[in-house]
Amino acid sequence: MINYYIGLDIGTSSVKAMLISEDSIIKTVSLDYPIRYPKPGYSEQDPHDWFNKSIAAVRSLTEDVDKSLVRSIAFSGQMHGLVLLDEIDEVIRPAILWNDGRSEKEVAYLNEMIGKDFLLSNTGNIAFAGFTAPKLLWVRENEPENFKRIRKIMLPKDYVAYRFSGAFATDPSDAAGTLYFDVKNRRWSKPMLKLLQVEESRLPQIFESSAAIGCIKPEIAAKLGLSADVKIVIGAGDNAASAIGTGTINSGDCNISLGTSGTVFVCADTFGFDRENAIHSFCSANGMYHYLACTLTAAACQKWWVEDILRSDYASENNMEQFIGNSSVLFLPYLMGERSPVNDTNVRGLFAGLSMTTAREEMTLAVLEGVAFSLKQNVEVIRSLGVDIRRSKICGGGAKNRLWCRLLATVLGIELEVPVLEHGGVLGACLLAAMGDGNDIAHNFYGVKETISPDEMYADYYAQKYQKYLSLYPAVSHLNSATL
Ligand code: XUL
Repeated sequence: MINYYIGLDIGTSSVKAMLISEDSIIKTVSLDYPIRYPKPGYSEQDPHDWFNKSIAAVRSLTEDVDKSLVRSIAFSGQMHGLVLLDEIDEVIRPAILWNDGRSEKEVAYLNEMIGKDFLLSNTGNIAFAGFTAPKLLWVRENEPENFKRIRKIMLPKDYVAYRFSGAFATDPSDAAGTLYFDVKNRRWSKPMLKLLQVEESRLPQIFESSAAIGCIKPEIAAKLGLSADVKIVIGAGDNAASAIGTGTINSGDCNISLGTSGTVFVCADTFGFDRENAIHSFCSANGMYHYLACTLTAAACQKWWVEDILRSDYASENNMEQFIGNSSVLFLPYLMGERSPVNDTNVRGLFAGLSMTTAREEMTLAVLEGVAFSLKQNVEVIRSLGVDIRRSKICGGGAKNRLWCRLLATVLGIELEVPVLEHGGVLGACLLAAMGDGNDIAHNFYGVKETISPDEMYADYYAQKYQKYLSLYPAVSHLNSATL
């Protein structure tokens, strides 16, 4: 008998949904929703959009299959987003997302007044504007009426899981990004909750990522034509889910995601943290830990440049080869401030080295190179912790651009492996859904279809250009959103 499993990835630009059988992908669907930037540096979404589009996506996924064979649904989701519900489970305000920079003051309070030692010893991390705790402090300070109404505090995928199941739950990989979670011990941090004036009863119960948190609500099962026995499995934050989807599951394994954000994820079997504070220590979806570094705008820079500025499309703008090894244009990809490693909410992006002969294609290339350099800086920080990164998986929408992958391999000086199934988070969610049903089918979906090697011809060129890139931030950090 066939069993079907569903994964829903609550991404930043869309919900990606996938239906798999025990050994193959049956169908994928992606439905967009808007992101709102009410002020520069702010970034919000309506949680109802996540849920409504998830329902539509499941409907579309299952329209041509025997729905009674669907066994479970699991989630992957953009991390850190602050979702607040009141006593009748109404959403209190739009969700404040992972790339929102409004909480600069709260970050400074946490890192400087409360102190990094306190934060590190209680959570394993320091404060970054994207993390959930500073946003909660921002709401307490700026929207006291909303703060008073809070009965449930949750993360994006947990909101959708709650609407599907009625179970108020999260998992350690996503909870790790709140800064009120004790990563090492995989439980909420009481000292942090006291500091934030939040009762633990306002927070979801923690389940490991492959745990079933309950069954689908009968009314939703009826609406979707699914069996009322379908299990709802909590799943993981998107980077941890991607790691499951790409087979980044053993200590030392690395996965780079070129999504809206760009992340470097390195698996570790024991908990450790970065004393220099530039990267995160989070829980993995398989009971382990990982280091994570996040470039806030990666494929988002490409999208901004190609779609918003050039008003073009990726295929038309892929004519850059002639400038590889032959361009002095540099790009600093800090369009929404930066997380890792500089932790600077106010810094902004930059093109440098423009002249009367600069070509459009050269600027497009500089955007891709700038993101690659930013990821290199993060890889170097992780290497400085004694982690040997020799190769990495590569996934995310930006990885479809093989030129970008080649540039990245050359800049990093490592081989990049493209998984047979390049679906990252949503495939990870499907595999977690199956695990939650007692069926570990992950090995049927792993494999490398292409290895992208560094281009030795340009190794020195990019080593030198990287040094120039490194000089940009110190030169312009004072020209930020507050001073410009
Ligand atoms: C990770 C992070 C992003 C989001 C985007 O810390 O903020 O990767 O999870 O989806």
